[in-house]
Amino acid sequence: MKIAIGNDHAAVALKNEMVAYLQGLGHEVVNFGTDTNDSCNYPEFGEAVGRAVVAKEVDCGVLICGTGIGISIAANKVKGVRAAVVSEPVSARLTKLHNDANIIAFGARIVGSEMAKAILDAYLGTEYEGGRHQKRVDMIHAIEEK
Ligand code: RB5
Repeated sequence: MKIAIGNDHAAVALKNEMVAYLQGLGHEVVNFGTDTNDSCNYPEFGEAVGRAVVAKEVDCGVLICGTGIGISIAANKVKGVRAAVVSEPVSARLTKLHNDANIIAFGARIVGSEMAKAILDAYLGTEYEGGRHQKRVDMIHAIEEK
């Protein structure tokens, strides 16, 4: 898969670990995040990954900030993004299965690297179920048109 990754200064180390992990699994990773610990602003990275996902330049996105919250809120402002912030693999699996989340987000101050890998495994290893969930996903995007 081709995966966009984005992060702020709170998540450089975890981002680097996740890039290496994903590449080790054979994925292509496009880095939209910061690579320094200098203070920066998470909305720009959430937006950049969101736009890459919606433009289908990549198959999906991964966002990491301190909590995963701010960067996912920013990404969700991009029309067509369904970014889900999670802290364990059950939610990561279910948000792909039911919400067809096209971005998974988590917090570097919340989860350790083993949990982050388990989240990525669950998210990337799950297919959207469609069916009864499609109407609800369509309803989410209908909100963007109001
Ligand atoms: C940065 O200090 C922090 O606010 C950011 O990484 C994130 O946690 C925001 O939601």
